[in-house]
Amino acid sequence: MIFKEFEYSSLDELEHEADSLGLDLHFSDNFELLAKKVNVEGFTVPNSLAFHPMEGTDGKTDGSPDELTIRRYDRFSKGGAGLIWFEAVAVVPEGRASPRQLWIHEKNLDEYRKLLEMVINNAQKEFGKDSMPLCIMQVTHSGRFSKPEGKPAPIIAVHNPYLDRIHNLDESYPVIEDGELERLEDKFVEAAVLAKKAGFHGVDVKCCHRYLNSELLSAYTRKGRYGETFEGRTRFLLNVVGKIKSKLGKGFIVTTRLNIYDGIPYPYGWGTDMEDYQKYDLEEPIKIVQKLYEMGVGIINLTMGTPYYNPHINRPFDKGGYIPPEHPLIGVARLNSGIGQVQKAVPGIAVVGTGYSWLRQFSPYLAAGTLEKGLATFIGYGRESFAYPDFARDILQDGGLKKEKCCIACGKCTEIMRAGGTAGCVVRDAKVYAPIYRQYCVEKNKNAQA
Ligand SMILES: Cc1cc2nc3c(=O)[nH]c(=O)nc-3n(C[C@H](O)[C@H](O)[C@H](O)COP(=O)(O)O)c2cc1C
Repeated sequence: MIFKEFEYSSLDELEHEADSLGLDLHFSDNFELLAKKVNVEGFTVPNSLAFHPMEGTDGKTDGSPDELTIRRYDRFSKGGAGLIWFEAVAVVPEGRASPRQLWIHEKNLDEYRKLLEMVINNAQKEFGKDSMPLCIMQVTHSGRFSKPEGKPAPIIAVHNPYLDRIHNLDESYPVIEDGELERLEDKFVEAAVLAKKAGFHGVDVKCCHRYLNSELLSAYTRKGRYGETFEGRTRFLLNVVGKIKSKLGKGFIVTTRLNIYDGIPYPYGWGTDMEDYQKYDLEEPIKIVQKLYEMGVGIINLTMGTPYYNPHINRPFDKGGYIPPEHPLIGVARLNSGIGQVQKAVPGIAVVGTGYSWLRQFSPYLAAGTLEKGLATFIGYGRESFAYPDFARDILQDGGLKKEKCCIACGKCTEIMRAGGTAGCVVRDAKVYAPIYRQYCVEKNKNAQA
């Protein structure tokens, strides 16, 4: 089915299209399910809605949150979602995806402490003392997408013909050594210790979108302790989770945002059917989620693809320089059913689902349907959180989303980010981000053509 922009004026039309595409999507108007409290490792999360990690690339050069970062979390904390999954925060400077990516270290710990205090105070003031959102910090190393000084400085775990092309890496380009990976394991642990000191309730050892840790999962052709077998390829993630757990003990959540399907052919993609890379094979992803669960991990955030190679798998969208090769509803259904299969296979873990923003005002119906069918425990919103930070309040208090406030999946937030600016919603938060978009995307393009 060819690409189609969103053009539904009613839920019926959307359901009809899903049916005609043969997609298994379940819609429900039982929004009460979204208000359900969830117990995660002893922490009562006030409802089942979540902010996904959304980087604004607006930190200071020393890695601390800057004005726009603080503004973003100020808005999120007043929005009403029970779970705030903070964006990617680098554990080492060379692993930053941009000079403005957040990076936590001893010297800026207080800045993170203040950020978290603000978030918790805001949420409790708006929604009551019992409504503290669960706050997870995502810690990361950007691996092959590292750009600490503003230009690519890839750190790769394994060669990959599909991704090496992006930065013209040839076979002589060095691969990170086992000893360096061991050192990095401890850097993740240090970042987790700092996150706890700052007041976060937990840490996400980021393992998605083909950043370093996620790349290791498919390092079939890497020799040594961190490659080849399932045990080798998952060693880094499991070691880091295990080390943080033993260092910080019960009461501090350790989780991961995990790709369950890369959409890159075998032997270069994780969760990919060996015969047909367009299909997922969830055997290994389920095995690792089960292992994490047995290690005491009570919550996990699942996603797919990489924004640098197959963005339509990562986030169904409508506009941008790259025309998606499929109907975005197929992308929505891929995320929904793949994630659902993992939740069904490991029912004890609370899965945060991904891929709702493209559905705009109809997304709460898929969200409720997903919970009704037991295909996730939390519903996470990514781009919608930039456009509509109070989405949870409107769903839970007003019975739905307002069309005129919704994300239109135009891709401008990503465009700004790629152009080196600070990312946000150009359409719904235009006062702040339209001038930034003009500066980084429009003017820059004009100058490039001149
Ligand atoms: C501008 C931008 C920044 C993002 N930052 C992060 C991030 O820091 N960490 C992460 O795991 N995913 C990140 N994502 C991916 C989103 O969390 C989410 O998975 C994706 O947008 C799909 O969800 P949606 O359809 O609700 O937008 C980002 C996406 C965008 C567009």
